[in-house]
Amino acid sequence: EQRAAEEIVRVMNAAINDRGICFVALAGGETPRHCYRHLGMDPLKDRVDWSRVHLFFSDERPVPPNDSQSNFGMVERSFILLIDIPRHNVHRIKGEIDIAVAAEEYERELRTAFGKRPLQFDLVLLGIGEDGHTASIFPGTDGVEEKTALVRPVVDPDQNIRRVTLTFPIINGAREILFLASGKRKAPIVQRVFGTTESTKDLPASMV
Ligand code: 6PG
Repeated sequence: EQRAAEEIVRVMNAAINDRGICFVALAGGETPRHCYRHLGMDPLKDRVDWSRVHLFFSDERPVPPNDSQSNFGMVERSFILLIDIPRHNVHRIKGEIDIAVAAEEYERELRTAFGKRPLQFDLVLLGIGEDGHTASIFPGTDGVEEKTALVRPVVDPDQNIRRVTLTFPIINGAREILFLASGKRKAPIVQRVFGTTESTKDLPASMV
């Protein structure tokens, strides 16, 4: 996790050196938690000028930020509360409101934050599910086919709940993409997705 955190800091500082600002989309789920903790601790936390970093989220569940299932809540507790970052640089998906409205609002907030700059994240962090999903783009769902919206409501077929997710148009446009996966359980899907060059709709992570 520390190496991943160091790589994240390297990419952020390269963006800040080159363009004076950095846009990052953060993965949710459990895997990134320990990596994010390193971002909020010495020595890494003081290596970044957080006032130049804009933090976004790759997806969110239909819950308020203080819910144990909230991706924002996990990230906030892991490092956002520990760093000196302006609140307006942290762009939360509002999981507590109607998911379609939250997606629309988030796309507007994203476009506003980028302003006249190209709509291109400097870094997108992604996890991978054992079914090959990434962000909240699940196999066999309409999120896989999305070609225009940058943010959209989707369905998580396993939990049968709606979520908000960044889509391939914005994910695949990123300068750098970092997948975070750990544990034996993930080895088979990591092998399936990264072991070949094939890109298949059955494995959304392979379409990144
Ligand atoms: C989420 C994530 C999702 C996650 C994978 C892996 O909201 O859950 O965006 O894509 O990265 O499901 O989750 P774990 O890290 O918990 O295994």
